[in-house]
Amino acid sequence: MSEIIVNGGKKLYGGISVQGAKNSVLPVLAATVLCENECVIHNCPALSDVNTSLKILKALGCTCQTEGNTVTVDSRGISGYKIPDTLMREMRSSVVFLGAIIGRCKKAVISSPGGCELGPRPIDLHLSALERMGVTVSEEHGYLICSAEKGLHGAEISLGFPSVGATENIILAAATAKGMTVIHGAAKEPEISDLADFLNSAGARIYGCGSDSIRIYGVERLSGTEHTIIPDRIAAATYMACAAVTGGKITLCNLMPSHMVSTLWVFREAGCDVELSGKSITLSAPKRLKRVPTVRSLVYPGFPTDAGPITVAMLTVAEGTSVFVENIFENRFRYVDELKRFGAKIKTEGKIAVTEGVKELSAADCRATDLRGGAAIVIAALAAGGESKIGDIHHIERGYDDIVSALRMLGADIKYSKD
Ligand code: UD1
Repeated sequence: MSEIIVNGGKKLYGGISVQGAKNSVLPVLAATVLCENECVIHNCPALSDVNTSLKILKALGCTCQTEGNTVTVDSRGISGYKIPDTLMREMRSSVVFLGAIIGRCKKAVISSPGGCELGPRPIDLHLSALERMGVTVSEEHGYLICSAEKGLHGAEISLGFPSVGATENIILAAATAKGMTVIHGAAKEPEISDLADFLNSAGARIYGCGSDSIRIYGVERLSGTEHTIIPDRIAAATYMACAAVTGGKITLCNLMPSHMVSTLWVFREAGCDVELSGKSITLSAPKRLKRVPTVRSLVYPGFPTDAGPITVAMLTVAEGTSVFVENIFENRFRYVDELKRFGAKIKTEGKIAVTEGVKELSAADCRATDLRGGAAIVIAALAAGGESKIGDIHHIERGYDDIVSALRMLGADIKYSKD
């Protein structure tokens, strides 16, 4: 089993280009199921979740090829509509394949995604929306069997919560459904606009992404297309936090700063100088970070839940007391016990984490509890003097394209160790 070994306490300097967005590439790969020709997708990050998506596509009968950061998917030979249980378990977000498979095959079988490391992740909003579009859903022996024998039709759907996954599944199912679908109360995340841009370039007619009302006019069929995935705003925030805790100065390129307004605000509140120049951001950290009295995760354009753990990690070395309120997921503080091993002072209750900043962290042996919690631990290890070992790094590999090489380019003393 592989570990990451960090010799912390070194200031980060230099520049790197930020990877393509995990939360974009996964729905876009699912969307290739709907395209009846070859799709070429650029700026795909090398992530284990991308590999899992490619395995799902192959299990459905698609042909996939990877060359560098470009993935080509040909779904002309699609022959299956069932996602194997092992792949469903590897990646809970594989539920986003549901809308695409049902759109293409009029039938889909997935195992029930159930709970996960962030607390329960229900899909009731996904399923009730699909039912409104003509899908019959039944559950048998832990499998969800969805079918639309007469085909899918458009519907007017109001989401009680702007769920990212449900919005994506509805867009996917509606793209080739008969008639018009309207989503009221849709999620506005940039990754949803990226999915719509991909589908529109393949011939779909999706309007209003980025607003809370999305209209989809179903088309007969989608063709192949070529698309470039948007930059990963969460990976960018992670590298910024890495630089911030070490007192360094880094420049990140290939970014969309307009996607990061709420995150950049937190870095500035913490005393960092953040300069924007086109698609680049330069962060210079102060000698000591300042406390940020309250940060609350919210739906976009609010502060992203995925940037919560990295923010809490950063604030463990800020001067004074900071409060983080997690409003999207229950049970997102499992990484906090690991941060405490570094000497961080954090108290959690329900959805609140109170961090009393310490001057210095000390090295620790710990493990990644989940993807973003794992990133938080890397940040603590970079801040802490001495050698830290991080286990269970498969969680980190789900969402970061070779984080070790990226941080080494910024001057960190970090490496993989094979046991
Ligand atoms: C969520 C995040 C997204 C992040 C992704 C990966 C939000 C709003 N969503 O997307 O930014 O990139 O995780 O970490 O920040 N819910 C239901 N029923 C449903 C669907 C969702 O009750 O059918 C609830 C969930 O329990 C949760 C909330 O809605 O409390 C957010 O869900 P959703 O946006 O759907 O989650 P993801 O799509 O996983």
